Amino acid sequence: MLLPEKAKIIEVGPRDGFQNLEEFIPTDVKLEVVDRMVSAGFKKIQVTSFVHPKAIPQMKDAKEVAKAAVEKYKDVEFVALVPNFHGAKAAYEAGIGEVSCVISASEAHNKANIRRTVEESLLELEKIRSEFKTLKIKLDIATAFGCPFDGKVPVENVIAMMDRAYGMGIDGVCLCDTIGVANPAQVDEVLKAVKAAYQDKEIGLHMHDTRGMALANIVVALQNGFNLFEAAAGGLGGCPFAPGAAGNVASEDLVNMLEEMGVSTGVDLEKAVGVARLIKEKIKPELTGHMVNVCNC
Ligand code: COA
Ligand code: ZN
Repeated sequence: MLLPEKAKIIEVGPRDGFQNLEEFIPTDVKLEVVDRMVSAGFKKIQVTSFVHPKAIPQMKDAKEVAKAAVEKYKDVEFVALVPNFHGAKAAYEAGIGEVSCVISASEAHNKANIRRTVEESLLELEKIRSEFKTLKIKLDIATAFGCPFDGKVPVENVIAMMDRAYGMGIDGVCLCDTIGVANPAQVDEVLKAVKAAYQDKEIGLHMHDTRGMALANIVVALQNGFNLFEAAAGGLGGCPFAPGAAGNVASEDLVNMLEEMGVSTGVDLEKAVGVARLIKEKIKPELTGHMVNVCNC
């Protein structure tokens, strides 16, 4: 098999994982989870989101979480998800160095999630880029592989959004299977088209495991030369504005698969399982990850 030597995992559990949990997680527990992620070897963590607290009450302590993490760990990159200019400004002011600006590839999901048309969100992205010159800005293309409202999303829409984003000087793009509908054949087709358009760009993937296809999709991505993946401890995650969306690929499952295949992640598997176990013990969510339930480590 043709595989990359290394892969990078961005741990998105504190944002994507926690945003779908109704009961408020105390800020110090969130920070304890971040501590354990850092000690497991995760070098990049999506630590929170600066969104309206009415939309996602769980993220109402975004500023505290971001500031504490940024202050404590100078050698870890902390990312925040933002839906608009207001959120990007708040993230920047909290000391965050990189934002993931989320815009959907489908109109209906962008409306449900951000309450804006795709075009309005892209104009907002342009405003964020021109205002915050030193901020690293990544475009998270939600519903890139399918939308709960609009169904199939043509790859041309995804590439058109990438054209706009790179044209503005955005630093990176992540393709998100928000509701976990992508299958390996589709992923192969989409990634080949994306690669043909943008050969030299490092493009991330964010695969939900709603239908059990996340790891299979990631194998296809590896074979297409992609090696930047987002994942969440324990397999938590989901978008409250995307009906039917469930957990992300579990970080520790991804670490296990990659390391077993000889792809180095820089993450300690036992400690990554430990993060999921800590979440289970302190927050008591249902975890869909595999390693957390089977690993004897
Ligand atoms: N964080 C906190 N407050 C925000 C905000 C943000 N990112 N963006 C806007 N606001 C405030 C405004 O200041 C305004 O406050 P005011 O009424 O006191 O003046 C109020 O919210 C309404 O602003 P508006 O621009 O009209 O927002 P909206 O009601 O259209 O909501 C979003 C738009 C994007 C803020 C909201 O839909 C949201 O937070 N969505 C995020 C969804 C999400 O996190 N999904 C999961 C991750 S993919
Ligand atoms: Zn997600």
